[in-house]
Amino acid sequence: MRSLAILLLAALAHAQAQTLRGAGDKRGVLVGAAVDTRSMAVEAYASTLAREFSMIEAENEMKWAAVEPTQGVFNFKPGDTLAEFAQAHGMKLRGHNLCWHIYNPGWLAKGNFTAAELNALLRTYITTVAGHFKGKVFAWDVVNEALGESGGLRDSIWYNQPGTGLTGAGYIDEAFRWAHAADPAALLFYNEYGAEDATDNPKSEAVYELVKGMLARGVPIHGVGLQLHITTNPKSVSRGGLDANIARLTALGLQVQLTELDVRVPVDAEGKASASDLAAQARRYGEIVSVCLKHPGCTAIQTWGFTDRRSWIPKQYPGFGAALPFDFNFQAKPAYAAMLQALGATESTGN
Ligand code: XIL
Repeated sequence: MRSLAILLLAALAHAQAQTLRGAGDKRGVLVGAAVDTRSMAVEAYASTLAREFSMIEAENEMKWAAVEPTQGVFNFKPGDTLAEFAQAHGMKLRGHNLCWHIYNPGWLAKGNFTAAELNALLRTYITTVAGHFKGKVFAWDVVNEALGESGGLRDSIWYNQPGTGLTGAGYIDEAFRWAHAADPAALLFYNEYGAEDATDNPKSEAVYELVKGMLARGVPIHGVGLQLHITTNPKSVSRGGLDANIARLTALGLQVQLTELDVRVPVDAEGKASASDLAAQARRYGEIVSVCLKHPGCTAIQTWGFTDRRSWIPKQYPGFGAALPFDFNFQAKPAYAAMLQALGATESTGN
């Protein structure tokens, strides 16, 4: 009897390992997806999500424009729905985001506020939202995309248009302090795109210097989110360059989370990609997962959506699509198999 039970348990463990989340659990890495609550009403969407992922994040529904569409009127419903879904399925909820230069409500973006007013508005917003989700959101992207391509601070209402009255990265420091005060247990991240590769990249250099400076100033920051909206071209973000970047960031004692991974490929008018592009995409997914796994401080791999049915790519990059590990009908693509293999769930070593 006892050995039968053990056999059954072993079989169950094996079956569970054959999912991204099962394999990720074994390696100590979270596997996440950006989601939206409307799609969660679709059974195949919700069940695939619950089966394969150990973390979710709102693609848009927890951004300022969605949370406070009218000044003083907060809509926490989608975020609460995600928190319930995460709890029901033993997943983590990642918060995205508390401070960004876009996706702000009209009343804020066009309000002609003074620096002192903006400072107070940002503080109130972060305090209210991080406070509301205290204990439900385990990690926040506190500030998103604050740097420009050449590495300087990006022009924005928070920095210099008119700014919050704080100089340099002062508004970033404050945003983290306010988030920490509102939810001392939450992990706080700086999230950025185009800063993945350490080689010859002023923006990744600037992210490194920014977070190093924050640590030196005693700002409560726990990690860096690297977005990874990439192509199959290995030169755009190279394996070695990503590896070196994760190495130097984690050497600071910070976590790195890969927050918005998608690998776009050219598609035809029906949204279909070629078999060779899907194979190249799979290799890219596998490569990114293996680089993360080399570093104990790389603690999460999240895709920006998970099904080609719901992805920002076709709109953002016309002519491209099919960027995610599941196809339009929730069937696993070669990219899925490559992720699973890189996570060590399959025996085959591939070529
Ligand atoms: C994107 C969403 O995917 C789109 O639906 C929306 O229209 C704009 O924002 N970097 C980020 C994400 O941090 O929030 C962005 O998400 C993609 C780029």
